[in-house]
Amino acid sequence: MIKNEVLQLNIESYGAFGEGVAHVDGYAVFIPYALVGERVEALILSVKKGYAYAKVLNVIERSKDRRSAPCEYFTRCGGCDLQHLNYSAQLKLKKDSVQKTLHNVGGIDFEVDEVYPSIKEFDTRNKLTLPFSMDKSGVVLGFYSERSHRVVGIPECALSAWSKKLIKCVTDWANKYSLSVYDERNKKGILRALTARVAGDKTMVTLVVVRESVPHLDKLSEDLSKLYENGIFYLNINEEDTNVVLGNRCVKIFGEDKLVSRALGVRYELSPLSFAQVNDYVRDALYSKVVSEIKEDDIVIDAYSGAGLMSVLCAKVAKKVYGVEIIPDAVYDADDTARKNGVQDKVVNQVGDCARVLPELCKKLRLEYARERFTIILDPPRKGCDERVLEAVLECKPDKIIYVSCNPATLARDLKTLTTKYSINYVKPFDMFPQTKHVETIVCLTRNK
Ligand SMILES: C[S@@+](CC[C@H](N)C(=O)[O-])C[C@H]1O[C@@H](n2cnc3c(N)ncnc32)[C@H](O)[C@@H]1O
Repeated sequence: MIKNEVLQLNIESYGAFGEGVAHVDGYAVFIPYALVGERVEALILSVKKGYAYAKVLNVIERSKDRRSAPCEYFTRCGGCDLQHLNYSAQLKLKKDSVQKTLHNVGGIDFEVDEVYPSIKEFDTRNKLTLPFSMDKSGVVLGFYSERSHRVVGIPECALSAWSKKLIKCVTDWANKYSLSVYDERNKKGILRALTARVAGDKTMVTLVVVRESVPHLDKLSEDLSKLYENGIFYLNINEEDTNVVLGNRCVKIFGEDKLVSRALGVRYELSPLSFAQVNDYVRDALYSKVVSEIKEDDIVIDAYSGAGLMSVLCAKVAKKVYGVEIIPDAVYDADDTARKNGVQDKVVNQVGDCARVLPELCKKLRLEYARERFTIILDPPRKGCDERVLEAVLECKPDKIIYVSCNPATLARDLKTLTTKYSINYVKPFDMFPQTKHVETIVCLTRNK
């Protein structure tokens, strides 16, 4: 196989990014936007040892699951991976992907449940983060195109229709006043990214900039306050030479301090730096499933607890909930949320790295509650749990572990450790991120006798 060769290939399976995979001459060929069952004409883009990348030139035999992508920026902007696949086939792909990853990475063969679907296929995201860039039209906001560091400007996003007027407002302002975009090569320019979150009728907008003094910020502030009746506007200062979007410091420009909303009967609060699940409908189903696993009188450790909404929901059932979270602002939010819902006596939140906090906390609680039932919730970021967290959890011997994961690969890796002492009750994926390759999964485990 050589670069620039054109081949006809039969797509046999999907890869980890939702791309089609064909096998030919001992090579696995990865072909984005090709579907299982299709025969495609493909151009070989690069050849490595034992595998190659190709792009579809022509679909010769079309899958019945193929559809034309509803969004005109699909394949160019890199925000979505699966718009060309009908929704029920997307759910099947995600179920199979979790099943396969558990087997390949964790050596675990367990029948995965059907994926809990999103009620809406589009306009599902309550949060959007877009980097700034320059193109021939001027300042744009967009997504990084697939596997690149090139931003493709978009005037709207089908996953968050609410963002169209915001993107226009901010790029109009940046272009009108010739604001500069931060260039990581020469470290010059001001604007880095825009992030926004909606909850109910409220919107919180955060402009990520290199320094606090932004020319003509008053004009943007004026425009945003006209756009949103219940708006909140923050600057986030990120001076670091990093690809992490948000810096540690936020400065409020106008509005309430926090985004306040309700979910599942709980009033919750979010600051700009706090994590929150991005799809309201699927979040509610996910949390309800977690809470259904909590028993009255349980001692719950909610590790990686974010802004504490799940902790408060658990506290309505459990005897006591201990949250551990690394972002201080999220812990303030979690404390406020516990207080405003009247469960402050049942929720103890702690700021810190789970890898450092959990070993001590587990020991202490085991002494304090020698006879109680323990449930540990693990909801880590994409990189999964630190080994020290897994060790502490096994040492603590909770009756139940509920692992909530947004990355099947690290989930499978961590389950390999946890299943040395625990058995899987079920693996339930949730479609938190329709149109993308991403999937959220709950795994419930109980201790072996
Ligand atoms: C996937 S989110 C889950 C948050 C929360 N459980 C929820 O449902 O909204 C992961 C959280 O872990 C936090 N985090 C990341 N690394 C951490 C660490 N080493 N120790 C504690 N928390 C961490 C992040 O700030 C984020 O809030």
